[in-house]
Amino acid sequence: MPYSSVELLDNREPILVFGRDGQIGKALQIYLKNVQAPVIFLGRSDCDLLSADSIQEVLNRYQPKIVINAAAYTAVDQAESQADLAFAVNARAPEIMAHYVARQSQGVFIHYSSDYVFSDTKLDAYLETDMPGPMDQLCVYGQSKLAGEEAIAKAFDLSEPSNSEMSRYYILRTSWVYGDGYNFIKTMLRLAAERQELKVVMDQWGVPTSASWLAELAVQLVASQAESGIYHCVPDGETSWHALAVYAIELASAASHSLALKPENILPIPSGDYVTAAKRPHNSRLHHVKLKRALAEMAGTSVYPKWQEHVKSYVQECVQSSSNN
Ligand SMILES: NC(=O)c1ccc[n+]([C@@H]2O[C@H](COP(=O)([O-])OP(=O)(O)OC[C@H]3O[C@@H](n4cnc5c(N)ncnc54)[C@H](OP(=O)(O)O)[C@@H]3O)[C@@H](O)[C@H]2O)c1
Repeated sequence: MPYSSVELLDNREPILVFGRDGQIGKALQIYLKNVQAPVIFLGRSDCDLLSADSIQEVLNRYQPKIVINAAAYTAVDQAESQADLAFAVNARAPEIMAHYVARQSQGVFIHYSSDYVFSDTKLDAYLETDMPGPMDQLCVYGQSKLAGEEAIAKAFDLSEPSNSEMSRYYILRTSWVYGDGYNFIKTMLRLAAERQELKVVMDQWGVPTSASWLAELAVQLVASQAESGIYHCVPDGETSWHALAVYAIELASAASHSLALKPENILPIPSGDYVTAAKRPHNSRLHHVKLKRALAEMAGTSVYPKWQEHVKSYVQECVQSSSNN
């Protein structure tokens, strides 16, 4: 980047971040460390997103111009039996935040969403203009994330024309996130230390995405004049869970991690052999041409990461930190 987008946030109004303790929330804490504008990070104990009153209260108290929602009900399988909770956190909470920001002058609302709003209606990677759903084909988590997206767009559409011209929203749809928290790559590294053989699903395709990079993108979009809307935020490339597991274990082995598991002993299985409460799409691939274009306009560069580069750094960090412990 030819400039620091963090600098562009200096001297601005307060920034309120929900989801302080999640993977993206923790990455935002690091990324927003040097911003001069006051940044308030809220965890569950500060504001329970199940309570509309609690959300409204913190918005009124801090009067932020910029709201970043990195919180979500992310327990995909549990959501099947807790639909009311998933919808409250993933749809109603962002709706309240969106209504608040849409009424501000020059406000910005950043919200993260998911590849699970799609359900195998396409063989190629999905564009932002592709129709999500249909609702009855999505898992409950996907339904709740889609309801959140729709509520945000509606809140901005409904706001006063004078303000809606000035306030912006960005829905960052992403997939297969890894960072400081529970995620697939960490699970593979942990299991690889204990097991000599592992079976991993080979018929679900997506793009692994770094939480740190997603935090950086949020800041860049806030600092940009990019148009409001949905952005597919994934790096270049695509892979399957099985190929990702093999790649991560190869990297960990090369970094001389003492693993019981050899990459060749990670066996590919169809998803039908790994039954989960929530049905996941086979095709989770998101097409990121819109984001690429926006970043190029913002920063004047066409450099764009490949998923392998970020996974490589991440696995090396994980190996390093486990050898320090
Ligand atoms: N993880 C993925 O693979 C993935 C893939 C696609 C999209 N996304 C999206 O990316 C965003 C961030 O994901 P992530 O991986 O960073 O999630 P995460 O690590 O699970 O963090 C979610 C955070 O939300 C908080 N939260 C949940 N319910 C809450 C409530 N009732 N009140 C207040 N806080 C609550 C959790 O608080 P506690 O720490 O107290 O539990 C947690 O800190 C979400 O919008 C998610 O849908 C994630």
